[in-house]
Amino acid sequence: MANDFLSIKDSRTGKTYEIPITNDTINAMDLRQIKVKEDDFGMMAYDPAFKNTASCKSSVTFIDGAKGILRYRGYPIEDVAENLDYLSTAYLIIHGDLPNAKQKDEWYYNITHHTMLHENVKKFIEGFRYDAHPMGMLISTVAALSTFYPEAKNIKDPESRKHQIYRLIAKMPTIAAAAYRHRFGLPFVYPDNDLSYAGNFLNMLFKMTELKYTPDPILEKALDVLFILHADHEQNCSASTMRVVGSSQADPYSATAAAAAALYGPLHGGANEMVLRMLREIGSKDKVPAYVKRVKEGEVLLMGFGHRVYKNYDPRARIIKKIADQVFEVTGRNPLLDIALELERIALEDEYFVKRKLYPNVDFYSGIIYQAMGFPVEIYPVLFAIGRTSGWIAQWEEMLNDPDQKIARPRQVYIGEGERRLTAGKKSELMEH
Ligand code: CMC
Repeated sequence: MANDFLSIKDSRTGKTYEIPITNDTINAMDLRQIKVKEDDFGMMAYDPAFKNTASCKSSVTFIDGAKGILRYRGYPIEDVAENLDYLSTAYLIIHGDLPNAKQKDEWYYNITHHTMLHENVKKFIEGFRYDAHPMGMLISTVAALSTFYPEAKNIKDPESRKHQIYRLIAKMPTIAAAAYRHRFGLPFVYPDNDLSYAGNFLNMLFKMTELKYTPDPILEKALDVLFILHADHEQNCSASTMRVVGSSQADPYSATAAAAAALYGPLHGGANEMVLRMLREIGSKDKVPAYVKRVKEGEVLLMGFGHRVYKNYDPRARIIKKIADQVFEVTGRNPLLDIALELERIALEDEYFVKRKLYPNVDFYSGIIYQAMGFPVEIYPVLFAIGRTSGWIAQWEEMLNDPDQKIARPRQVYIGEGERRLTAGKKSELMEH
């Protein structure tokens, strides 16, 4: 029993209610008892965009937005990015703890041995126009996987879920690479099981006529860290979508496709692509003040800035800034970096951004690295989706195992017409035309 209560006095009736407080939170259903008349529906909370509503209890990711802290299963993101690789991070996020040696071997083996796509998936991807956006191809192809693995519907069977998890994490890079190769009219490259998760992805993207592709170790490591930084971010738009779609007991491929669709938008995972387009549009350092003026006048958004949760520097952006230097040693310095640094310098000093606590987020610098590594802008949201797949799965698993969860179904405040009837005049008018 909670010992703390929130006392609410209803001025309409003069009645006082004591609502229990647990974890600094009240249960929205406790508001329902607040009524004027016995047959009223009862009080609800209005919260468009869920700005102050917890939709679940979670132990996956902790964020303190005011302090700029991010932890996966308790481990600080800086620690994870420095000491783990993406597959161990994915294991940690999904299973709640790091694997032991045997678990790690099994996990790596199972992911590595599910990277191939059914040959029909290739045909499916070939059906897209040559200039189809890779994110559109990824979303549709992930959804199509549900037709190849109909047993994925057995979401209550942990064994079946385990297999779909291997497949999802393993096949996302293969689908992403196939979408990329299709865009350039290049033949698809089969996975190479000798390579790491990130190394194999680079192989499937960039292998040409050489018999064996050898990824540059610095770029391979940088990409792996980028996957880690994108792995989970608690109840963001796409993770919430995964949970909402999964709550109707849809199969995980359909739910992941829906989550990827939510990620595609420019306010979420599509922002990295938009940052690069914005930096190109600005063109040079001296044009930055004029662009900032347009932002302040509300004409455009400063893409890669601002966050619903972080009101401080995004810790992921700080790590990305550091790895950018290592990448540029291999690829050469990206000239867009100077524009980005100038934008950041001006924005961090400007009253508009300071007052609103707008700081660079994860998407601000990631695109600059991706561009230096040779990725075309359209594929940036896809790279985000590959990393985020483990987070979506962890959120989905947690939702399925949580006895508090049911099918997601928000309420509304109806503000439309009261009951009305069609007039005889309107009926005959509609019949005549
Ligand atoms: N540029 C200019 N003004 C901004 C920006 C921005 N990027 N972001 C927020 N603001 C202003 C906004 O206009 C509002 O001003 P006012 O109080 O005068 O109306 C104030 O700051 C608060 O913003 P908000 O729109 O209420 O904040 P939100 O929590 O609803 O939106 C956001 C968060 C990330 C959607 C938003 O900051 C944004 O659109 N940023 C640009 C897109 C972007 O970089 N998205 C990636 C987010 S991080 C990775 C991810 O999660 O996918």
